[in-house]
Amino acid sequence: MAATGLGEKIAQKIIMAARSALDLGFKTADLIYEQRLKVNRISTGSKNLDRLLGGGVETQSITEVFGEFGSGKTQLAHQLSVNVQLPPEAGGLGGRALYIDCEGTFRPERIVSMAMAKGLDPKEALKNIIFARAYNSDHQMLLVEQAKDIIEENNIKLIVVDSVTGHFRAEYLGRESLADRQQKLNRHLHALARLSDIFNLAVFVTNQVMARPDAFFGDPTRAVGGHVLFHVPGARIYLRKSSENKRIARLVDSPYLPEAEAVFQITEEGITDPRE
Ligand SMILES: Nc1ncnc2c1ncn2[C@@H]1O[C@H](COP(=O)(O)OP(=O)(O)OP(=O)(O)O)[C@@H](O)[C@H]1O
Ligand SMILES: [Mg+2]
Repeated sequence: MAATGLGEKIAQKIIMAARSALDLGFKTADLIYEQRLKVNRISTGSKNLDRLLGGGVETQSITEVFGEFGSGKTQLAHQLSVNVQLPPEAGGLGGRALYIDCEGTFRPERIVSMAMAKGLDPKEALKNIIFARAYNSDHQMLLVEQAKDIIEENNIKLIVVDSVTGHFRAEYLGRESLADRQQKLNRHLHALARLSDIFNLAVFVTNQVMARPDAFFGDPTRAVGGHVLFHVPGARIYLRKSSENKRIARLVDSPYLPEAEAVFQITEEGITDPRE
């Protein structure tokens, strides 16, 4: 009023109009429910594991799989990149995968085997995976920040980041850099979460953790290295090795599913249920 010489009534009107134009983000729960009904799921290839996840790996959220070396994180990432291409009735989303490889462990041969086992043309299956190798954490973040157009143009329904934590761990050593590391990682995960929301796609990230030496008595899912998804909603799957090629998956901290376990196996054809 002092600056413009407007009367009190007019000033009040302007303030009210500005407030209502500012969407503070409140909405009724039925709208959230409507949004949730659009959530789709990608089959993992194992019915046991799908059941554990409430039908498969969800769109509109981030799924973190963590476990020690050789526990099957990368194999799952490969399998989902194939399965996302399947039609919905076969457990896919009829879409493509964006695969960000931070460790150099992507193997097209595995895609070929898995695709053939699913009755897909292996050449097509490879073409439907858009691949990038991330050489450091900045590069990794940049790839995600610039992914919007690629996602739109290529009907991307799955983003894989394998591993999401490796570069950050290697670059931010020592206690004093812990806060920086977590802040950057949070920014990265929020960028991924936003993409999953906007494009109704699934984000699948891996996180290598060491089993706790004392885990025999304590909670084995509280692994050394810790979780990355502190501030981002989503499912966390803890993998551990079992006999032969079997793996045990434990669902931890799901926002809406009970904590439980499932057994699957890794074969030449990919992820399957154990043969009885
Ligand atoms: N062609 C195949 N046939 C059967 N099993 C395979 C095949 N390829 C890999 N595996 C199994 O998958 C395991 C490796 O799993 P994967 O690479 O997914 O582990 P990871 O959790 O990603 O480990 P890291 O933390 O080291 O990246 C191997 O130990 C092997 O048991
Ligand atoms: Mg791996």
